[in-house]
Amino acid sequence: MQLKKNIYLIGFMGAGKSSVSRAMAEKYGFRETDTDEMIVSREKMPIPQIFEKKGEAYFRNVETIVLKETAKKRGMVVSCGGGVILKEENRRLMKESGEVILLLAKPKTIYERVKNGKNRPLLNGNMNVEYIEKLLKERTPLYELAKTREIATEGKTPERIAEEIYRTI
Ligand code: S3P
Repeated sequence: MQLKKNIYLIGFMGAGKSSVSRAMAEKYGFRETDTDEMIVSREKMPIPQIFEKKGEAYFRNVETIVLKETAKKRGMVVSCGGGVILKEENRRLMKESGEVILLLAKPKTIYERVKNGKNRPLLNGNMNVEYIEKLLKERTPLYELAKTREIATEGKTPERIAEEIYRTI
């Protein structure tokens, strides 16, 4: 199947966006991209270093720049950084150029997936279920605003989630 639009995968850190994107590429041959990877290759610095040296606002600006580039294309599965929903401009760019699929996961599941990672500056010093729950709660209204569809991911493999997405597009 040829995708006419893009498919944006959004959701909290550890919701499974990258794994689902990979499964969509492997199963259906879709081209995939990842906003975090685009940012890293543009800035030639890992994400924690961008936050540390240039600050979150700078990171958010670059995130919008790479999203704009992606929104000009068609037929891509785009795995988005968890905070992409924070800006109205980003939410608009995604909706105008594709389906925006929210991957849902519980705080405990998220914690289990992210707890050993060192690449998420927002969770540095806050690596616990309570903090994840708090941030998720704060962001939920924005995820709701940004999405066009949502998928519960609990207990499902990335392949199964990819199949569910495929059936709805
Ligand atoms: C962020 C999520 C990260 C990354 C950055 C900020 C966030 O991406 O963009 O650390 O604000 O939720 P993942 O969702 O892929 O971990």
